Amino acid sequence: MPGDKSISHRALIFGLLSIGETRIEGLLEGDDVLRTADACRALGGAVTREAPGRWRVVGAGIGGLTEPAGVLDFGNAGTGSRLMMGVAGSHPVTATFDGDASLRKRPMRRILDPLVGMGVSVVSEAEGGRVPLTLRGPRETIPITYETPAASAQIKSAILLAGLNSPGRTTVLEREATRDHTERMLRHFGAIVEVAPHGPDGRAVSLQGQPTLRGSDVIVPSDPSSAAFPLVAALVTPGSDVTIEGVMTNPLRTGLLTTLEEMGAEIERVNERDEGGETVADLRVRWSRLDGVDVPAARAPSMIDEYPILAVAASFARGTTRMRGLHELRVKESDRLAAVAAGLARAGVPHEIEGDDLVVHGLDGAVPGGGTVATHLDHRIAMAFLVMGLATRDPMTVDDGSMIMTSFPTFIPLMRELGAAIRER
Ligand code: S3P
Repeated sequence: MPGDKSISHRALIFGLLSIGETRIEGLLEGDDVLRTADACRALGGAVTREAPGRWRVVGAGIGGLTEPAGVLDFGNAGTGSRLMMGVAGSHPVTATFDGDASLRKRPMRRILDPLVGMGVSVVSEAEGGRVPLTLRGPRETIPITYETPAASAQIKSAILLAGLNSPGRTTVLEREATRDHTERMLRHFGAIVEVAPHGPDGRAVSLQGQPTLRGSDVIVPSDPSSAAFPLVAALVTPGSDVTIEGVMTNPLRTGLLTTLEEMGAEIERVNERDEGGETVADLRVRWSRLDGVDVPAARAPSMIDEYPILAVAASFARGTTRMRGLHELRVKESDRLAAVAAGLARAGVPHEIEGDDLVVHGLDGAVPGGGTVATHLDHRIAMAFLVMGLATRDPMTVDDGSMIMTSFPTFIPLMRELGAAIRER
């Protein structure tokens, strides 16, 4: 399985902001992460690929970034672009951010607002606070305390990264806990981070600014958001018995496992262990009869990227699955709520969108399939509906598989190895 995308972006970024050498094992070499590597180079890091998955970064250090010569093009990557706005925006350089047609539609105001509060100037922006946009940073950022308006690890991380070049303490308050890879990596590289409860489900994360980050070793575990595809493929395809190795089981990323287990999925966590500061396990998955469940909104942050593939599992279940509180899905690589619903319609699966909820009426294994799904430049829509085709009566087609390269470049060969018949036209 490929390395985790969230950790891969962050490993490169922390390498850039450190003094000395960072060595990364298992970096995800998908297009999104390669764009972040290019941006790190443009900002003064020496980034080299030494072998497949093995990368070396010699950092420029906090306060030491250089002005990029050209536009920073992040392609399809929300995480890369938003985290880097915190990094470049907190330095006295002028940097222009851009991306593909999908990224150009995504909201950046959520990042720009707190950055402006930290002293960053937005020199120009596309309508509605979108890329292409240009930032000019101060010599040092102003420390702030900020409550994020959405449950978003990208917002939290952009602020913390900008707070690194601040003379005081930066605090991010989140009402719901989101993935904590930035906090873990800050500590791993030598920063002082304090985490306290904030309300019933949230966290307050405080960072002491201007630490010296020291280059460190990072081992990237397998991406649970990518593992979700072969995992659900095994669950819905009769006779399957598949083991997926070394999958990260950080509790802020395992909402899908919890949900599938509630649905009756047979998933065994084997050999749970600690690898490079994250827990990982091998997941043994067998074809299972699934039942519909009610997925609470509070679980969304821990499975935010997994709803398209959960909708596929729900299509094969007995009874109705209601997934609550999916408003953030509307601002992903595509409007994922609409894209999933349209895909389900193509496959002949009864469903409704009710407010922010997606309701799927499962067909107990008998999904007709046969349609062509519009992927809207969204890798997870493409992979989810290809997986669906493994167990539908008629094959499923997606209109564009090219975006799969952004997060899971080995998806097609890996699925073929498992027995999937995938034809490319
Ligand atoms: C990510 C955070 C999530 C997630 C994305 C990766 C990260 O986005 O959807 O794929 O690495 O911080 P939001 O912060 O917008 O929820």
